[in-house]
Amino acid sequence: MERITIAIDGHSSCGKSTLAKALAKTLGYVYVDSGAMYRAVTLYFIQNEVDIKDAEAVKLALLDIDITFKNIAGKNTTFLNNTNVEDKIRSMEVSEFVSPVATISIVRTKVVKEQRDLGKEKGIVMDGRDIGTVVFKDAELKIFLTASPDIRTQRRYDELIAKGQKVTMKEVKDNLLRRDHIDSTRADSPLKKAADAIEIDNSNLTEANQLEKALALVKAKTLQL
Ligand code: CDP
Repeated sequence: MERITIAIDGHSSCGKSTLAKALAKTLGYVYVDSGAMYRAVTLYFIQNEVDIKDAEAVKLALLDIDITFKNIAGKNTTFLNNTNVEDKIRSMEVSEFVSPVATISIVRTKVVKEQRDLGKEKGIVMDGRDIGTVVFKDAELKIFLTASPDIRTQRRYDELIAKGQKVTMKEVKDNLLRRDHIDSTRADSPLKKAADAIEIDNSNLTEANQLEKALALVKAKTLQL
């Protein structure tokens, strides 16, 4: 089967990364979590007290940021300047600050360039907000995942509690809705469904069900090529 590019977009915690990872594993494709890259930039800004209103400071900081992914014990793991930051970038502190950081155009320019480099060879599944609309406008398959806000909140809450983080359901829901608002209304690359994306509402689907639906779409697309 011909290797294609698969773009998966959607709101916060809609299950994009679960589906993207499962698809990549089944198809033998590379998986790239584009949100992890914005989270890593945000962590750097927090750690180095970069004032995001200071354009020069942001520009200088970006020169010092190197984001890579490694497979550690079968798990896709994010590294910032050669340090494993996978757990730190999922903290509420980073979640609170990431959407404002992701509105900054020079941040997006750097991150998008690296994302495109990772996708040069095709055979890639990337999840995010602007993958089907900006990063890989020509992706052969674009999926827009949706789920109700309450279901998304419950999933993220369970995830954070399992990792031992102390959060309340209200904090998680407020964060998701605030990020959705900033992500959808920003000027540069707002979150929106690409005209040619196929929408899947996974509110009542199991992980296996959503994978099955997506694999059927992959099959249909690759047969058309
Ligand atoms: O895991 P969750 O869906 O909550 O978020 P994420 O995919 O880790 O992305 C974190 C944040 O990064 C988003 O809320 C956006 O502000 C930003 N982001 C973006 O602007 N563009 C992308 N392609 C991916 C993420």
